[in-house]
Amino acid sequence: MPQREVTLRAPAKINLFLEVLGRRPDGYHDLETLMVPIGLWDHLYIVDDPDGRVTVRCHWATGLTKSRDGQDAASQGWPPLPQGDENIAARALLLLRERAGVEHGATLTIEKSIPSAAGLGGGSSDAATALLAGNELWKLSWSRDRLSELAAELGSDVPFFLADRAAICRGRGERIELVESYCRWPIVVVCPPEGLSTAAVYRECGATAEPPADARSAAPLVEALCSGDLRRVAESLFNRLQPPAARLSAWIDRLRHDFAAQGCIAAQMSGSGTSYFGLCRTALEAQHLAAKLRGAGHARAFATTML
Ligand code: C5P
Repeated sequence: MPQREVTLRAPAKINLFLEVLGRRPDGYHDLETLMVPIGLWDHLYIVDDPDGRVTVRCHWATGLTKSRDGQDAASQGWPPLPQGDENIAARALLLLRERAGVEHGATLTIEKSIPSAAGLGGGSSDAATALLAGNELWKLSWSRDRLSELAAELGSDVPFFLADRAAICRGRGERIELVESYCRWPIVVVCPPEGLSTAAVYRECGATAEPPADARSAAPLVEALCSGDLRRVAESLFNRLQPPAARLSAWIDRLRHDFAAQGCIAAQMSGSGTSYFGLCRTALEAQHLAAKLRGAGHARAFATTML
């Protein structure tokens, strides 16, 4: 019998809005954030292992890691990818296998295109997609709500990636409210060669237990997104983590400057950085903007769209 294989795509995300509402006793932060999946994907290939082993291998997509002068990922300073049980997708499969009482195992290969430590949610998306892949491979028929409970144990952003659409995320990020019907615009994403640790950016944010005096709500942005008002979406973009990230990496202010210099309607950092995105009116405008930013020295600038 041919070996059963499941192939799935794991999208990246951007945060159009992120407010930090306070530091919690458990060290995490209460958030209100609006996340949207985007058209940049890791690919996951999973096959059954009747001997019960869970094996995970992870590599950069071919062609992605070679710079113009032929340097590979390591010599360009890209962080090494977590292999085996260190990979959050392996932890996802092991957790699902244990909770569902599955005897079989799986071999998962992850072909990465989403840069790490970039605020694009690559690891979290791989973990959510590994749960979906295991669910299908082992024919478990678990609902998304049931998978979501495991997802929240794996990481704050993981439940969002089971939703497959824009959502307002609260708590430490695991409480999801879906945005039902919304407009998708083209965007340009730039990933600088240097990433930031999420934990370090939250520490630098210096939040107290109380919400900041000027705390904002995601409501105006959600309204603008749903009514298709790009001007108001542009005015409502917000990320409380951008100033602390800019103190830790000079790339943030450089990107802010470079997007503004190209006349982009609105741009900001995604998540805890260091990726930066800009909104565009049309796909053509996004392609032109990405080309200009590459010309300005940002090798990893690409045009895509909100999903
Ligand atoms: O949950 P996750 O493993 O993705 O979080 C990584 C780190 O980011 C946490 O260890 C914590 O330092 C920080 N974090 C936080 N508050 C959140 C989410 C993440 O402080 N809501």
